[in-house]
Formats: sequence, C-alpha cells, structure tokens
Amino acid sequence: MSSRYKGLIEKYRQYLPVSDSTPVISLCEGNTPLIKAKNLAKFLGREDLEIYLKFEGSNPTGSFKDRGMTMAVTKVVEEGSKAIICASTGNTSAAAAAYGAKAGLKCFVIIPDGYIALGKLSQAMMYGAKVIAIQGNFDQALDAVKEISNNYPITLVNSLNPYRIEGQKTGAFELVEALGDAPDYHFIPVGNAGNITAYWKGYKEFNAIGKCRLPKMMGIQAEGSAAIVKGQVIKNPETIATAIRIGNPASWKQAEAARDESGGTIDMVSDEKIIEAYNILASKEGILAEPASCASIAGLIKLKDQVVQNSKLVCILTGNGLKDPDSAIKYAKSPVEKTTSELSDIVKLMGL
Ligand code: F0G
Repeated sequence: MSSRYKGLIEKYRQYLPVSDSTPVISLCEGNTPLIKAKNLAKFLGREDLEIYLKFEGSNPTGSFKDRGMTMAVTKVVEEGSKAIICASTGNTSAAAAAYGAKAGLKCFVIIPDGYIALGKLSQAMMYGAKVIAIQGNFDQALDAVKEISNNYPITLVNSLNPYRIEGQKTGAFELVEALGDAPDYHFIPVGNAGNITAYWKGYKEFNAIGKCRLPKMMGIQAEGSAAIVKGQVIKNPETIATAIRIGNPASWKQAEAARDESGGTIDMVSDEKIIEAYNILASKEGILAEPASCASIAGLIKLKDQVVQNSKLVCILTGNGLKDPDSAIKYAKSPVEKTTSELSDIVKLMGL
C-alpha cells in the first residue's frame, strides 16, 4: 500500500472477506485518533490508570458506523444488489446513505419519528436517501426492514448483516497496533450490540495469531433501555441518548458471549450520569462526543473502583457530538450569556 491512507478495507484486506477484484467503496474511514486522557484519570482520582479515548467521531460521517458500512456496501456492489435498507437511531442511516450515494445505490432508511438527532437526519437527507419516519421505536423499525429485505430485492445493512461486523472489528486491530497490545479493559456503549460483538471478534482474531492478549469487555447500556442488564426486552425504551434507545438488541446473545468469554461486564448508567460524563469529557478533555458515546465514560466513572491498579483502558467514543447540537445546548454547563454591545457591559459579564 502507498503511504496515503485509503480506508480500512485496503489497510486490513488480509483479514477481511475481499478479493483483488472486489470493488471497494470507501470514504477513507478508520484510522481514528486514540487520545490519552490524563485529565479524566485525574478527575477519577485514578492517576495510576492509562486511559485512552478512541474518537470514532472523526470518521467521514462522524460515527463508527462507517467501518461497517464500507464493508457492507462494498459487498452489496460486489454481489450486484442495487438497493440497501436499514432501521436506525440515526448514525447507521447517515452512514448507509453516504456509502450508498458513493456506490450509486438506492438507499432507504426507516427511523423513529422525533427521536433522531438533527445532524444525523440532515446527513441522510443530504446524501439523498429516502427517509421514512415511523410512529414507532427502533425495534419496530428493525422488524419492518427485516421483513422488507426478506421479501424485496433490497439488502439489509443493519449490523445483522455479517459484513458490518467484519468492517467494525478493524477498530480492535487499530487499538492493538496503537498500544502494542489490547488494553486491559474495553469500555463501549451498547445499543443494538453489534459494536461490542465486532470488537470482541477483532480482539479474538488478533489473539489467535499472537498479536494481543484479550481485554475485559465492559459494555454500557442506558438505564431506560438496559435490556441485557435487566434480562428482559424493554417494550418502551427511553433515554436521552437516542442512539442507544433500543429495547431488544439484535446481537443480545453475542454481547453476552463477549461479556462472559472476556470476564467483563454489561452494566447500565442513568441519563443524569450520561449528561455528567458528556460535560466532563468536553470540558476536561476537549472532546465533544454525542450523549450515547458518553455512556462508556459514565460506565468508567461508575465502575472505576473495580478497575485494577495501573491498568490500561480504552473508552470508545462512538459518535461526534456535533451531530446533536440540541443536546449540547440543552445540557451544557456553560450557557450563553447575553448583554448589550457596550464594552463595559461585556467586560462586566466576563467577570474581569
Ligand atoms: N453509539 C452510537 C453513537 C450509536 O449510534 C450506536 C448505535 C451505538 C453507540 C451502539 O452501537 O448498536 O452496535 O451496540 N446506533 C445504531 C444506529 C443503532 O441506528 O445508528 P451498537
């Protein structure tokens, strides 16, 4: 490969289901920053810990979904399908619409009306997808797209599509390469549970060829949608972290397997704690991640006393905070202060 980064399929083609003739559809996704979070460690009172934040918000459409979507859409094109469909809480629809546009495919996205962050909705609209908002939640939207893709010549690109998991496992490869090994703990938000499944698969594949140890997988759900933690389907899931407002995760079993095989845990955090983590991350580390992403930080804050001394850990920040300016403005600790244009009034407000 040349020195110019061409996207994760080119980078990791030996570990992915592609051949030399596969028509790769890429927007140069992956290769996301891994940021050391010393201020967060200090805030936790755990300066012994090495905490790293994987900022997936720097992917082309602003979330980790691009990793799975480059792979899924590439295979759609290779296999000759002309249309794709997904249910989404927002990020999957943005990624499907973008990669669908790049590949010249028809793209349909089914979303829960009123529960999509504005940035994500605008993305799907601008990339030219047909956006259908239903009076129902994500779980109902997912049931609908499964049915439609079974009966019409349209390929499902939710994480039930195994190629999505293949693409997303590359996040684990990048972590192992950046750290020289897997971290001791891997904190990750859990919604439909595709991403925890994918990371665990990636770690296991690199472990099998001697490239890394295995981390403990620490999945974090939002309390109002914590089906796995509570051991039951949540009929009416609720959380301000709309991206993970899911009551019946499609990869439930795989998430439990990742937890059990790794000796990790799946826990939950309240909306209040998610908002607190959202503010701490932005104000202490200079990183704006969307509320659902901050579930991993809130999980770390909750479980910090269980983390073994001198451990290395990674929190996955799944999506960019710019996708959801409404939440930022609503929950920011520092609201806008208004005054006249008089210099003396401005200086007075500055508290100088
Ligand atoms: N974080 C963000 C920002 C997400 O958008 C999602 C899922 C998750 C975490 C959870 O990942 O589902 O693999 O466990 N969003 C999906 C969507 C459901 O439609 O965009 P997961």
